[in-house]
Amino acid sequence: MTHARIAGIGSFLPEKVVTNTDLEKVMDTSDEWIQERTGIKRRHVVADDEFTSSIGVQAARRAMDDAGVGPEDIDLIIVGTCTPDKVFPSTACIIQHQLGVKGSAAFDVNAACSGFLYALDLANRYIKTGGAQTALVIGAETLSRITNWEDRGTAVLFGDGAGCVVLQASDEPGILSTHIHADGQFEELLQVRSGISVGYDKTRAGEAFIEMNGNAVFKRAVATFDAIARETVADLDGDLGDIDWFVPHQANMRIIKAAAKKLGMPMERVIATVDEHANTSGASIPLALELAVRDGRIQRGDTVLFAAFGAGFTWGSAMIKY
Ligand code: UT7
Repeated sequence: MTHARIAGIGSFLPEKVVTNTDLEKVMDTSDEWIQERTGIKRRHVVADDEFTSSIGVQAARRAMDDAGVGPEDIDLIIVGTCTPDKVFPSTACIIQHQLGVKGSAAFDVNAACSGFLYALDLANRYIKTGGAQTALVIGAETLSRITNWEDRGTAVLFGDGAGCVVLQASDEPGILSTHIHADGQFEELLQVRSGISVGYDKTRAGEAFIEMNGNAVFKRAVATFDAIARETVADLDGDLGDIDWFVPHQANMRIIKAAAKKLGMPMERVIATVDEHANTSGASIPLALELAVRDGRIQRGDTVLFAAFGAGFTWGSAMIKY
């Protein structure tokens, strides 16, 4: 049986850093409030000449180097993003060209903060069924471009970044189980109201901003992390105790801690990087995974649970043997 395994990982954060103290100067907020309510200390923000594609390319190059693969090996590129460069072509196609990959399939999936896990679920299925051998699974976002810097309720929460895994066909088990879900009835709780057809107004072009009912999203996120983790271990006839590392979507430290507590998982086994880059939506799981792999916490053979929750609502999980 063919399995899909993570052969390499890479990430990229834009050079420009915006600290909580920087935000204090431009809006009615405080470092103390932001850290206490979210755990966030800083976020990275793209420069004018950086795009979702360009930071995705940086992450992909690092992942390809890590896996020891070249452009000629890649036969599938899936980008999880809700901040694509353009309506079309897809960010995946732009990245494909910049990497010098020829002839692969390349497409985006928009599942907001669950985008990386939706992309991983798809790539896993392609590889297991022989449709691809070596896939780039990328989560890349430039949320700063859809952030309303006059809304302190959301502006402090988000950041830009990209992460990528090279997923490769293998005889050894890698991705053990994936689960993705959505419930579209919660559109109003977390959305960018203005778009291409709905609410499009030429005079307000460039004013498409994230709007969120933070409290409602918070509660739902905690409950969903718990449910999806239990669904995933049950599917594998396993136990929550089998998990060596929990890598959740990085939205808010309080959500991460509450979810870990509900699952009975000590924080020593939870990877949290939200302090360093805030909520980077589809990029947050590969960013967190990469850090924990590089600092030696996550080792080859460890069992790792990913879980994400985001606008849609969408949510997803993956249990992997790293
Ligand atoms: O990736 C998935 C999507 N996003 C999330 O998962 C985020 C989910 N939600 C959250 O993380 C939290 O709900 C927030 C961090 C957004 C807000 O935290 P909260 O504890 O739910 O605060 P709150 O919205 O209940 O606001 C408490 C107070 C309010 O003032 P009053 O009405 O009590 O006087 C807000 O106006 O904090 C005020 N506030 C702020 N104060 C300083 C809101 N934002 C700020 C701010 N700085 N940036």
